[in-house]
Amino acid sequence: NPNYLKMEETSGLQQVNCRAKGGASGFKVAILGAAGGIGQPLAMLMKMNPLVSVLHLYDVVNSPGVTADISHMDTGAVVRGFLGQSQLEDALVGMDLVIIPAGVPRKPGMTRDDLFNINAGIVKTLCEGIAKCCPNAIVNLISNPVNSTVPIAAEVFKKAGTYDPKRLLGVTMLDVVRANTFVAEVMGLDPREVDVPVVGGHAGVTILPLLSQVKPPCSFTPEETDYLTSRIQNGGTEVVEAKAGAGSATLSMAYAAVKFADACLRGLRGDAGVVQCAFVASQVTELPFFASKVRLGRTGIDEIYPLGPLNEYERVGLEKAKKELAESIQKGVSFIKK
Ligand code: NAI
Repeated sequence: NPNYLKMEETSGLQQVNCRAKGGASGFKVAILGAAGGIGQPLAMLMKMNPLVSVLHLYDVVNSPGVTADISHMDTGAVVRGFLGQSQLEDALVGMDLVIIPAGVPRKPGMTRDDLFNINAGIVKTLCEGIAKCCPNAIVNLISNPVNSTVPIAAEVFKKAGTYDPKRLLGVTMLDVVRANTFVAEVMGLDPREVDVPVVGGHAGVTILPLLSQVKPPCSFTPEETDYLTSRIQNGGTEVVEAKAGAGSATLSMAYAAVKFADACLRGLRGDAGVVQCAFVASQVTELPFFASKVRLGRTGIDEIYPLGPLNEYERVGLEKAKKELAESIQKGVSFIKK
């Protein structure tokens, strides 16, 4: 790859005839925003994923260093780095899966919506590249506010004539990961055995854990329900405050992103019964986008599951979530249509 060699030259490495090839079977994955707080551990974990044969690391800063570092890991995936807008298209050509953690994170006192002005433009640019260079790739969108950036991506793809709602997924996996952890703590269970569906969206009250549907079946007191719902909804803020200005969740997010990307890749491979929650174009409610359980297959989303029976507490939460979600979705759509 010419860009890769260019980077080797600039970093002063001796050029060799690199014959490394991705495994014959295996997927090509690009990470956009790969030098960031999420991007770096995400790149490391994807390099360890045996389903990945080629890993492209794109950022507007520092991607050569991250690429050099990650590329020394003795795992199967071939790693290539891409720096700056002029290399975006090379980073994207031929990709099966594109993961996007590019953009600014929150500082204390900020909501995810406060990030809109900066991140909306970044997501737009990156999605225009995807539409041009790998229109059939599955897209995992992490950049916040997810409730608005997913509608933005959809509008960009519609404009380009490449939109397939089955391939665009907003990553809400961290809400599920947190919910599993916090429920396990309260119930004295192993978090690996807990499965909490989290529906709605990815910000504040739009994050709606369905505690009545937890597996294994658990019953919670009203106090436990309040505590868990609030802690799951504010888990991100808990980390933002603890980091005190140094950003938001990065390590748990990278873990969650890889768990989700791995599910997408297993679906692409044809594994049966791969189900995760994600924020997707949906008819589960009257809103055009909604997070719920989806089954992943060879072409992206194969099936979107209905919410199932909700208790009164969850029905009230759902109404609150829908009200805020409707506004965030509209804000994203208007950003492109204006
Ligand atoms: P960060 O600031 O550490 O890293 C962001 C990276 O994006 C930087 O390396 C930056 O150079 C890069 N970037 C900026 N503009 C770019 C462009 N035009 N093209 C490519 N790369 C670009 O931020 P961090 O902590 O990694 O967070 C990234 C995003 O993920 C934020 O928007 C944050 O709110 C979001 N996030 C989402 C979560 C979720 O559950 N979906 C959880 C945690 C964070």
